[in-house]
Amino acid sequence: MNRVFWKDKKVFITGHTGFKGSWLSLWLQDCGAILTGYALAPNTKPNLFDTALVADGMESVIGDIRDLGKLTKAMGDFSPDVVIHMAAQPLVRLSYKNPVDTYSTNVMGTVNLLEAVRKTASVKAVVNVTTDKCYENKEWIWGYREDEPMGGHDPYSNSKGCSELVTAAYRSSFFKYLGSAKIASGRAGNVIGGGDWAEDRLIPDIFKSFENKESVVVRNPFATRPWQHVLEPLSGYLVLAEGLYLDGDKYAEGWNFGPKDDDVMPVRAVIEYLVEQWGDGASWIHDESDQPHEAKLLKLDISKAKKLLEWAPKWSLFTALDSIVEWQKEWLKGGDVKAITLKQIHEFEKS
Ligand SMILES: NC(=O)c1ccc[n+]([C@@H]2O[C@H](COP(=O)([O-])OP(=O)(O)OC[C@H]3O[C@@H](n4cnc5c(N)ncnc54)[C@H](O)[C@@H]3O)[C@@H](O)[C@H]2O)c1
Repeated sequence: MNRVFWKDKKVFITGHTGFKGSWLSLWLQDCGAILTGYALAPNTKPNLFDTALVADGMESVIGDIRDLGKLTKAMGDFSPDVVIHMAAQPLVRLSYKNPVDTYSTNVMGTVNLLEAVRKTASVKAVVNVTTDKCYENKEWIWGYREDEPMGGHDPYSNSKGCSELVTAAYRSSFFKYLGSAKIASGRAGNVIGGGDWAEDRLIPDIFKSFENKESVVVRNPFATRPWQHVLEPLSGYLVLAEGLYLDGDKYAEGWNFGPKDDDVMPVRAVIEYLVEQWGDGASWIHDESDQPHEAKLLKLDISKAKKLLEWAPKWSLFTALDSIVEWQKEWLKGGDVKAITLKQIHEFEKS
């Protein structure tokens, strides 16, 4: 990403109170961008948004993405150059419990976002953040390419496939004209990083157990996941937004931002590495009870982003895991969380 591009750019971020949103907001604040965020209040305690004082460097609007009037007003009042849409119900297991909320937030939320963009003439570039789970999962060994069919077995994955279809329909119906905003989507895998306290996610669960000195209970140790540090896809979204803003139609499509092939690893490899790095008697056990269906094999083909955006993953899985251990230890000892987050952002940029 190009820091100079982002200086003084007005960026509207939905989901800025979440894990990825907080990292992205701090990164863009550090580049000198002018930010307005739109999201619900953080729903975990602790959370990165509050602990890293993210609101200090931006205008923060607390609102529901399903409230079209409020969303349109917040965007219109700000008149952004770029919109990055991350507000979503992002958890697979919660989507089995709350399918209606998941669909209304993830699908109608996308419709509302794009409606608000239609009414805000200043917007030149929009990145809709979906997921690798948006593809019809064939449980095969090859990476999915951007033009493969959308699908999704569970409500979360499927709602993100729908969000992609909404994006494509809005692009061809409303955003193909000269001067209209350019719309793309970014598909990335499971992201990891310091400061994630979401329920029912592996890395947060691991650190909660470490901190409570309990064994980590792992549901699917043999499932393979495309692990990547949160800064990897965020850098992809930023490079993509730059391309959309500067070169328009050429970039207005879907993009995969997955990890290196070597970093598609079983859960077991991650937990064993973290147990070793954490020390202090850390341990894990396999929960063999029946679990709701989750995709077991999922890989993205990132050739397109490498070739056309000159984007590529930077950190290995183990560098990412080391950075999380460093982050969580800093937090545990009451250190400056904003400073460590910015330090890791600078290290990532230099690597
Ligand atoms: N974390 C991952 O591993 C991962 C992987 C692939 C894609 N994603 C996508 O990245 C985005 C951010 O995920 P995250 O991990 O930061 O999740 P998160 O739960 O930490 O953050 C979600 C954000 O969306 C907001 N939000 C939720 N419902 C809302 C509503 N009805 N109205 C307004 N705001 C609402 C929350 O307030 C929060 O700011 C999501 O779109 C998610 O699907 C995440």
